[in-house]
Amino acid sequence: MNLERNVPLQPYNTFGIAAKAVALVRVRGESDLRAVLADPQLSTLPRQVLGGGSNIVLTGDVKALVLKMEVPGLRLAKETDKHWIIEAGAGVDWHELVDWTLAHGYPGLENMALIPGTVGASPVQNIGAYGVELQDRFESLDAQDLLTGEVFSLNAAQCGFSYRDSVFKHASAGPDDLGLAGRAVILRVRFALPKRWKPELGYADLERKMTETGNHAPTARQIFDWVCAIRRAKLPDPQVIGNAGSFFKNPTVTPEQCADIIARDPKVVHYHLDDGRIKLAAGWLIDACGWKGKSVGHAGVYEKQALVLVNRGTAEHPCTGGEVMTLAKAIQTSVYERFGILLEPEPVVI
Ligand code: EPU
Repeated sequence: MNLERNVPLQPYNTFGIAAKAVALVRVRGESDLRAVLADPQLSTLPRQVLGGGSNIVLTGDVKALVLKMEVPGLRLAKETDKHWIIEAGAGVDWHELVDWTLAHGYPGLENMALIPGTVGASPVQNIGAYGVELQDRFESLDAQDLLTGEVFSLNAAQCGFSYRDSVFKHASAGPDDLGLAGRAVILRVRFALPKRWKPELGYADLERKMTETGNHAPTARQIFDWVCAIRRAKLPDPQVIGNAGSFFKNPTVTPEQCADIIARDPKVVHYHLDDGRIKLAAGWLIDACGWKGKSVGHAGVYEKQALVLVNRGTAEHPCTGGEVMTLAKAIQTSVYERFGILLEPEPVVI
């Protein structure tokens, strides 16, 4: 185990916010965490897990011991009649995993191409895009208990996946509560990729690509290329403009609430869910309040997609996490005043 002190975190969060970790350990396998637990000084410190840093807002230096998850590995772990089971280490870059699976002939993750972040972070918020969510392709994961160092496996039901949510986002409220936030870290994730693959093309942006190209039976690699092109056209590349992807979740409302909102603005973008509730496009709500392209301090609203907040800081005037949160609160207030809906942030605020 290698302990590093006063580590700049700017390269480790896609928002590009400057902050330091007072102490940081790179976790490449279960033995690193066991070494932390065996160390009399480190074992008493609070801990903060860091993956690809693509879903966090840093509001200051991190005083807790940062566990930077860098577990490597990418392999075909098993084959069943119906699936290829691919295992990836928590530290593997998500997009690299998607690209690798397609290059090796295992389709199924193509709709989730180019999502920033690491494999280990992907189950935490059950990432998803263009009609496919992580839980649709998930088999199991290995996690390590942050108190005992014990390694255990969880299946999909035990992970409690729902829209941008899992047990890893919730702290335990008692002995029977499965909340694992702060209690366990993800080491490896296994994906079940279907041998009888079917393209998922129900999403409007992909339908448009089929019409544009005249290709109505795309391969998985073709869908991967389309998704990359769609995302590059409307989402900022974190290497160029700091951001954490969608900043708010798309809210769900009852049909009555939706009728009330339609009465205020008939153009509101909404989708009917199987359970009778209605999902609203948060980006549309924010856009309708006039936020697209606006800034507060050095934090801004991306000009091509209002759901994405961006870093508009410079070397002399860096953007702080506080400015991002001030902008987020101003957006929440105006959407609430106009539509009566309180938007819920997606990233974890540290
Ligand atoms: N819209 C606007 N103005 C905007 C933004 C969106 O009018 O500024 C409208 C769009 O025209 C569209 C609707 O809102 O009719 C939905 O927009 P979009 O298709 O871009 O998808 P989204 O709901 O904003 C979600 C995910 C994205 C994911 C895309 C594609 C959430 C919170 N976000 O965005 O995920 O890539 O669908 O599946 O669920 C992420 O989580 O970081 C992320 C990028």
